[in-house]
Amino acid sequence: MKLKRTHYCAQLNKDNVGQEVVVCGWVHSRRDHGGVIFIDLRDKGDILQVVFDAKFEVAHKLRSEYVLSVKGKIRRRPLDTENPQLKTGEIELVAEEVELLNKSLTPPFEISEKTKTSEEIRLKYRYLDLRRPQLLKNFSLRHKVSKIIRDILDKRGFIEVETPILTKSTPEGARDYLVPSRVNPGEFFALPQSPQLFKQLLMVAGMDKYFQICKCFRDEDLRADRQPEFTQVDMEMSFVDEEVIFAVVEEIISTLFQQVLNKKITLPFPRLSHGEAMEKYGTDKPDLRFGLEIIDLSGIMSNCQFKVFKGAVKKGGKVRGLRVKGGFSRKEIEEMTAWIASFGAKGLAWMKVTSEGLESNITKFFSKEELQQIQDKMQGEEGDLLLFVADKEKIVNNSLANLRLYLAEKKKLINSDNFHFSWIIDFPLLEYSEEEKRLQALHHPFTSPKEEDICLLSESPQKVRSRAYDLVLNGYELGGGSIRIHNASLQREMFNVLGISDAQAEQKFGFLLKALDFGAPPHGGIALGLDRLIMLMVGADSIRDVIAFPKTQKAICLLTESPSLVTEKQLQELHIKLDIVE
Ligand code: AMO
Ligand code: AMP
Repeated sequence: MKLKRTHYCAQLNKDNVGQEVVVCGWVHSRRDHGGVIFIDLRDKGDILQVVFDAKFEVAHKLRSEYVLSVKGKIRRRPLDTENPQLKTGEIELVAEEVELLNKSLTPPFEISEKTKTSEEIRLKYRYLDLRRPQLLKNFSLRHKVSKIIRDILDKRGFIEVETPILTKSTPEGARDYLVPSRVNPGEFFALPQSPQLFKQLLMVAGMDKYFQICKCFRDEDLRADRQPEFTQVDMEMSFVDEEVIFAVVEEIISTLFQQVLNKKITLPFPRLSHGEAMEKYGTDKPDLRFGLEIIDLSGIMSNCQFKVFKGAVKKGGKVRGLRVKGGFSRKEIEEMTAWIASFGAKGLAWMKVTSEGLESNITKFFSKEELQQIQDKMQGEEGDLLLFVADKEKIVNNSLANLRLYLAEKKKLINSDNFHFSWIIDFPLLEYSEEEKRLQALHHPFTSPKEEDICLLSESPQKVRSRAYDLVLNGYELGGGSIRIHNASLQREMFNVLGISDAQAEQKFGFLLKALDFGAPPHGGIALGLDRLIMLMVGADSIRDVIAFPKTQKAICLLTESPSLVTEKQLQELHIKLDIVE
C-alpha cells in the first residue's frame, strides 16, 4: 500500500479545504456524469464524496465495495450540491492519485440502512451486513459503554476476575450447553448459565468487590431479546445490603446515559413491589413510559349474571380490565381478541362508555348498579372503551399485560426517547411450577429469603418473600440479582424446600455448601444484560443488532454454518456414539 491514510472521512470538514489528504475505504456508490465520476467512499461508517476526472482509467472500473486509497485536495462543494445528510456534506475530495487495493464480488445486498434483504442472507454475509454505518456505530457505542462501566467499577474498588467457561451446571432456569470430556469418558462440563456460584466463592475468598463482563450460555427458546450466548455485567459485593447495590447500578446507568447519550436519568429509580407490578401491569417487567393500569373488578363481578365472569371468580380466578380512550371499531376489537388469544385469553369482553351509560353485547347480564360500579371503578368517561378478561390470574395478567402494550402502540402512548428505569422488589422466593409439579426458586436457589419470613419457609413456603430485585427498563428485564444465602444450614433448608435431597445437594452443590461453612461473609450482587442495555440505548429492535456474530431464532450461526456434524474420529475420542432420536 503506497498511499497511507492521513484522515478518516469523519475527521474532514470545511476547515480542511485546500489540504492534501489520503483517505481509505470502500466504494459505497458510483455515479458517472460523463466528464466526472463521483464515488462515495465509505470508511468505518462515514462517507466522503470523491470526484474523479474521467481521465482516471481506474475510476471507470470501480464497482461497489472495491477497496481504495485516494490522495487529493479537499474543496468546498458548490452550494446547491451540499448534502446535509452527510457529516462531510459541505466538502468533497478531488482525486489526484488512486490506488486500487482490492476488488469485490458484487455484494448480495445493498449495504445501506434501506436494504430490504432478509436477515438470513444478511447473517450469512454478516461481515458485509456489519459494514452498514448504523451497525458499526452500535459497536462503537457498545465499546464505549463497556469502557465506562469498567472505569466506574475500577474507581469503586471492584476488580474484574475471570471465571471458568468449562464448569458445572448452575441452575438459572434454562437448559445447559454440555461439553463432553475426552479425558473422563461419559462425563460432561456445562457452559455457565452465569458465573453465579463462582462469584459467591470469590466473596468467600475475600475478594470483596468483584465484577466481570462475561459470556453466559443458556439453551432456551430464543426471542428478539434472547440469545443462547449473551453478555452480562456481573457484580458481587460483600458486607452490603440492597441499598449499596442499587446505588452502584444507578451510578453506572446514569453515567452511561449522560456520557454516551447525553441524557439525564433521574435518580433514584422508583421501586415497585412485585405484587403491585403484577396487579397494575400484569407483569414483573412493566413498561412504565405510559399509564394504562389494569383494574381489578373481581369483587364487583362475583355476583353478576354473566357466567363467564362470575364463573371465573368462583373458581378462584380474576376479572380484570383496561380503560382506553377513544373509539374502536368491531373489527379492531376482533383483532385485539385474536391478539390476546395467543396469550391464553378465551375471549375479550368490552363495553363502550356513552352518554347513556355502558353499552355492549353483554350489558344485559348486569344490573344498573353493577354497570355503575364498573364505570366508577374504571373511571370510564364518555367515548372510552372498557375491556375485560376473566380467567385464572396468570392468564388474565399475561393477556392484559400484552394487551396493554398493544394498545399503547396503537394509541401512540409511548415516547421512544424516554427511558424509564425501575426496581422491582419484594419478589416471592418460590413459585409453584405446574410443569414440574413442585416449588421452584423464582430467581435462583441461592437467593436469601427476607429475614422476617425465614420462619415461614417450612410451613408456608409460598408466602416467603425474597431479597431479590430486578432492574426494568421500558418493559425489558435489564438485570436481576439478590442478597444471597451465606449460611450453609439455611442453604440446605432452601434445597430441601425445592425438593432437592441432602444427598443430591451434596452431589450438585457440595462445593458451595462447604465454602459457606468456612466463614462466608454476607454478600449480594446483580447481573445486567449488556446486550439488552445496548439494544435499548441504540433503539434497536433486537439484540442481534448489537452482537457482532449472533445466532438465529433457531440457535444457528448462518455465517459459519454451526452447529455442524463432527467426524467419527472426534466422536470416538469423546467416547460418544450417536443414536439420534427424531
Ligand atoms: P438473570 O438470569 O436474571 O440473573 O440474568 C441477568 C440478566 O441477563 C440478561 N439475560 C439475557 N440476555 C440475553 N439473552 C439471554 N438468553 C438472557 N438471559 C438473561 C437479562 C437478565 O436480567 N446470576 C444471576 C444474577 C445474580 O443473581 O446476580 C443471573 O444470571 O437482562
Ligand atoms: P360469548 O357469550 O361466548 O359469545 O361471549 C360474550 C363476550 O364475552 C364476547 O365478547 C367474548 O369475547 C367475551 N368472553 C368470552 N370469554 C371471555 C373471557 N374468559 N374473558 C373475557 N371475555 C370473554
